[in-house]
Amino acid sequence: MKGLEIYKNLEELDNESKYLVHKAKEAAHHAYAPYSKFFVGAALMLNDGTVVTASNQENASYPLCMCAERVALYVAATQHPGKVITKMAIVAHKKNHKELAAATSCGACRQVMLEFEQRQHKPFEVIMHHAPNEWIKSSASTLLPYSFDASNLKD
Ligand code: THU
Repeated sequence: MKGLEIYKNLEELDNESKYLVHKAKEAAHHAYAPYSKFFVGAALMLNDGTVVTASNQENASYPLCMCAERVALYVAATQHPGKVITKMAIVAHKKNHKELAAATSCGACRQVMLEFEQRQHKPFEVIMHHAPNEWIKSSASTLLPYSFDASNLKD
């Protein structure tokens, strides 16, 4: 998809998106986030129906922490080479919070999503929880305008 859609309610999303959000919520429970206590789950849908889930993985050496989105994308690329990503959902919650937190992916993850779109020659939908009663459906190129990519490096 191009552009950005905002949904007031998860119920307004299509069934596949709702399912992926559900899988992302499950994945967030396996986050290793003892430092930030910010638990992120990501779920990817592949073109053959495979669902790949991942969570953020932290380290006492803070810069080594890895976001859930990038874990999910790299798992998809290594475990399911050649398959096309059609959709991605991201959710987060804070410790002891019942409600979801904003899971608007960081710039580094948007950059990696963009390269995945480019390498598979196909955009994929990105669904992120932004605020209570606000879900965003967009794509990497919309979420990261004027980005740096392989074309910048050409002679
Ligand atoms: N985090 C993600 O998993 N995804 C993002 O897009 C932003 C941040 C993780 C990294 C770290 O473990 C924690 O959230 C706090 O930054």
